[in-house]
Amino acid sequence: MSFGNKMYVSALVFCIVISVARCSGNLGFPPGFKLGVATASYQVEGAWNVSDKGESIWDRLLHTQPSLSADGSNGDVACDSYHLWRRDIEMAVELGVDMYRFSISWPRLLPSGFANYVSEDGKRYYNNLIDGLLEKGIEPVVTLYHWDLPQYLQDLGGWANPLIVDWFADYARVAYTLFGDRIKTWLTLNEPLIICDGGYNKLWAPYLDDLKVAAFLCNKNVMMAHAKAYRMYDEEFRPLYQGKVSFPNIFFWFEPETPADAEAAVLTRQMWHDRYAHPVFSQAGGWPPELEKVLLANGKREGYPYPRLPPFTQEEINYVKGTYDFYALNHYTTRLVRRVKPGEAGSWIFYGSEEINVAIVNDPSWTTAVTDWFAINPTGLRKQLHWINSTYGISDILITENGLPTFEKDLLDVNRITYIRSYLEQILLAINDGINVMGYTAWSLMDNFEWLAGYTVKYGLYDVDFTSPNRTRTPRESARYFSNLTKTRTLTDDNIYYLRNVTKNTKALKTLAIMEC
Ligand code: NOJ
Repeated sequence: MSFGNKMYVSALVFCIVISVARCSGNLGFPPGFKLGVATASYQVEGAWNVSDKGESIWDRLLHTQPSLSADGSNGDVACDSYHLWRRDIEMAVELGVDMYRFSISWPRLLPSGFANYVSEDGKRYYNNLIDGLLEKGIEPVVTLYHWDLPQYLQDLGGWANPLIVDWFADYARVAYTLFGDRIKTWLTLNEPLIICDGGYNKLWAPYLDDLKVAAFLCNKNVMMAHAKAYRMYDEEFRPLYQGKVSFPNIFFWFEPETPADAEAAVLTRQMWHDRYAHPVFSQAGGWPPELEKVLLANGKREGYPYPRLPPFTQEEINYVKGTYDFYALNHYTTRLVRRVKPGEAGSWIFYGSEEINVAIVNDPSWTTAVTDWFAINPTGLRKQLHWINSTYGISDILITENGLPTFEKDLLDVNRITYIRSYLEQILLAINDGINVMGYTAWSLMDNFEWLAGYTVKYGLYDVDFTSPNRTRTPRESARYFSNLTKTRTLTDDNIYYLRNVTKNTKALKTLAIMEC
């Protein structure tokens, strides 16, 4: 069959599926399902030293070691959202989104890192952004910490120092007090896996090399810090403002390569995800038990006098357990897992074989996007939603990030549209299965500073011209697609948009028209 015929047949099959679903009416998002876009302070704000802003660990890292980022760049100016926030709001309006997720820069609000002094300029900036969004009917969703720790706190030990639990809670109190009257959804710490395992594995700031001990100290401290910020909100601010609090977990979906690898997949999920989920979401609380045993045994074998993963006391277990109002998921991709073969070297990213003897690999049948870490497997998301639901008994899930990276400055970003559509379809199927996915946040509103990949990797619905002084933002086709989606709120019309504007497949459209009920 020629390529053209194949396209036609698959479009036809697609049309049949769509029209059947359309007649049965289950391709619409339920009322109340929210669509949004996300960014983070260091990735978009720029203005790294404007007014009294303090230095962050990312400022320090990339000013002292500029060659660490792929293009030698940093977030000094980034998208210049500090100055261009009005345009950001305008874009959110163009997209028709219900919510905009952004983060507060801790050192912009508290230049010393401590709550002894609150920056008037920081207050003004976030008040403008919040009020500007609300005026347009867009819900601001606020992340308190998206990795830009005040450098001074890092000098005091950062996330490896247990005192950070109080420092973070003090910062959270300032933010809740200043903005809590208008913020109904708070996210405490973005992706603790990246904070600890990335930060202590020379992949993210503070770019330290201490996976053996410091990363595990960090594990306990991030959990305690989240819990303290949650409990403070619950006791002092919820009665006033009735908001909700959680934290976004990054969760690759891990499938066993063969049925014999089922146990390896369980351990991998515990290492990657449950280390940060079990203490909060499980009935029992505390660390995932099998993993805790494995890590304890590894540490003993290596002669450490203490468990490297610091145990929780029963009181701490109870303190952390249940500190969520919903589950926040950052989902991008899937991996296969198997036991390492004898003599096989370590695996991809973080621990792999070193702690848990697993290899994390790609299924060759999955498409990989621009980078080899990015396998596209939308059905993985539906399985994962089921797994979260059944493992932790959680039904309320907010997708706080999902999106596709590209290298090209491509305005006709067909791959991104296809990716978003196919993941949304799986979300819709999960909703139809009975799981309450409350909303979907695309990463990202616009291209931005992608950490050590610099500006080489693009996730934006809007292209940003980083060479222009005013950081011109231009909508990609995916932005048009998304604004169509926020209007129609069904994948049916969304698919018609796709056929008409992206594939321009008129034959398929005619077929669809004939089949309509
Ligand atoms: C997750 C992070 O929260 C965000 O900062 C990052 O840009 C995206 N993933 C894409 O890598």
